[in-house]
Amino acid sequence: MKKTLNKVVEILNAQNIDEANVKARIILREIANMTVEDMLLDREVKNEDEVLSFAQKLAQTKMPIQQLLGFGYFMGEKFKVTPDTLIPRDETEILVKCALDKVKELQKDEIKPLSVLDIGTGTGAIACSIAKNSQNVEVLGVDISSNALMVALENAQKLDLIKRVVYRKSDIFSALREGEVFDIVVSNPPYISEKDYKNLDTTVKDFEPKTALLAKNDGYEFYEKIISQAKKYVKYGGYILFECGQNQAQKICMMLERNGFQVSDVVRDLAGIERVVAAQMIFIEEDELTF
Ligand SMILES: C[S@@+](CC[C@H](N)C(=O)[O-])C[C@H]1O[C@@H](n2cnc3c(N)ncnc32)[C@H](O)[C@@H]1O
Repeated sequence: MKKTLNKVVEILNAQNIDEANVKARIILREIANMTVEDMLLDREVKNEDEVLSFAQKLAQTKMPIQQLLGFGYFMGEKFKVTPDTLIPRDETEILVKCALDKVKELQKDEIKPLSVLDIGTGTGAIACSIAKNSQNVEVLGVDISSNALMVALENAQKLDLIKRVVYRKSDIFSALREGEVFDIVVSNPPYISEKDYKNLDTTVKDFEPKTALLAKNDGYEFYEKIISQAKKYVKYGGYILFECGQNQAQKICMMLERNGFQVSDVVRDLAGIERVVAAQMIFIEEDELTF
């Protein structure tokens, strides 16, 4: 096994693939079903040819490994990915964990039914993970991409969540019905500015959908669009949560505060970047006030 591992690392290094050691171990785990124990005991790799040919394809195409495998892991579950979907990122787990904390808070006294809206659901990784790790919660995932929604549906089916996660094609809120409101709205929207998009790594730019990444107005397009309409869709006392790009959190907090929300959390990722913003709906329509 060590011999095969070294050959894989060599193939990847020859094409300057980053994190060659980590990727080599992933290839052995996923293509040869090698466990940590197999690795420690240096067991023979039965399908070395297949393993090496996968490594060569990865090195030549420079595709993200999840795209070549056809899946990636998120919150411990396997999610199908295709060229139409963003590969779920580790930092997005922070957003899911924060949303799950809000679910717990809202269900503190009783496990009452809650509704969650996931805007820009992609593979459905956020929607499915929230449903999977909570009780009595229904999630609606919306996306503008029909192809992404087909992948999201497959993921929900595989995770046996089809009764609790539904999807709808929608340009942000466009397909929501009058009066449809949610306890929690969550979104990891496209947030890369035109300027930053130009400098993105080619493994991202060449293989992940532009519509999942790029946002006008210096990256704030979707935050502006969502926040300006959000008070119609978030219940009083409910929450809105966003993943944000580097240095975007403070401006997003200001937008939220100006639009009927009170910021409750700003959570940093492992690199110290303010990655997630959560805010509570505190605005009451005048005609809803009772004296
Ligand atoms: C950054 S990706 C997030 C994907 C997934 N939620 C995740 O976290 O891995 C943004 C998603 O927003 C979707 N999207 C882009 N424009 C949209 C729009 N106008 N309305 C709804 N979804 C949109 C893209 O298709 C993409 O799936």
